[in-house]
Amino acid sequence: MKHFLSIEDVTNYKALVQSALDYKAKPLKDKWLGQNKTMGMIFLNPSMRTRISTQRAARNLGMEVIVFNLDKEGWQLEFEDGAVMTGTKAEHVKEAAAVMGQYFDIIGIRTFPGLINKEEDYSEHYINQFVKYTGVPVVSLESATLHPLQSLADAVTIKELRVSKKPKVVLTWAPHIKALPQAVPNSFAQWMGNWDEVDFVITHPEGYELDKKFTSGSTIEYDQDKALKGADFVYVKNWSSYEKYGQMLNTEPAWMMTNKKLDGTNQAKVMHCLPVRRNLVIADEVLDGSQSIVIQQASNRVWAAQAVLSEILKNN
Ligand code: CP
Repeated sequence: MKHFLSIEDVTNYKALVQSALDYKAKPLKDKWLGQNKTMGMIFLNPSMRTRISTQRAARNLGMEVIVFNLDKEGWQLEFEDGAVMTGTKAEHVKEAAAVMGQYFDIIGIRTFPGLINKEEDYSEHYINQFVKYTGVPVVSLESATLHPLQSLADAVTIKELRVSKKPKVVLTWAPHIKALPQAVPNSFAQWMGNWDEVDFVITHPEGYELDKKFTSGSTIEYDQDKALKGADFVYVKNWSSYEKYGQMLNTEPAWMMTNKKLDGTNQAKVMHCLPVRRNLVIADEVLDGSQSIVIQQASNRVWAAQAVLSEILKNN
């Protein structure tokens, strides 16, 4: 693995999931692997879990970590080729990324979509510019359209907690008060769709179909109750419309996850990438109940990141 930007960078999916579980059992087994190497973590947007879990992972491998909040502490970056830089943007990504590549052995970067221009967001222009100009391995800490570190942790959590060989996993849309990216559901659909050990179903109101590039081969069921029937894992997440790009078509409070909705499931374990808005996306009774595994899911972010960084360190 050179970069980690999506599942397409993974050569052996099952081995990567197992590697994360091995690190969970023995966090410091490779504590010298990253000795004398430095990871730079660049944030253009807020983060708690990704920021802390990836630092923890890098340190478990003996790496030094420098976190740089580029959006607040850096020069404003220009990303357009040929721009005449007479505006507020003081530095071009060509120099900024190339300079960071001199300081760091691995660069992690978080970017978000603007949710206005679909073509621009889905071209992954920002993260790809970093890949182009840093000259070192790049790890996505969430990009405009994907969140692969989250999805790997999700797969690890499902593997760890499944009670049948091929559990039914349901991704369900939930209401929200603001338009959110499609990165987490796109990525989760991509990872579940490529895993022959799960039976994967997506449910959402009409109009919230995700990009087919990520959902091809997955079952889409518009009736949430029908989709949830017999589910072993229920992944709750809001996203804005892909078709009517970035729009909230409705807020559908009836789609919030409640204990009543879980009645038809196989005592499903409830997942969410966090942060989650209580009693809007998931009811208190679910998050505070025994079926919620959101904390364990978040804790597995460390082992997922450690498996990825270890793979990159071994291969570069
Ligand atoms: N799930 C997730 O990526 O959380 P943060 O945005 O806090 O990193």
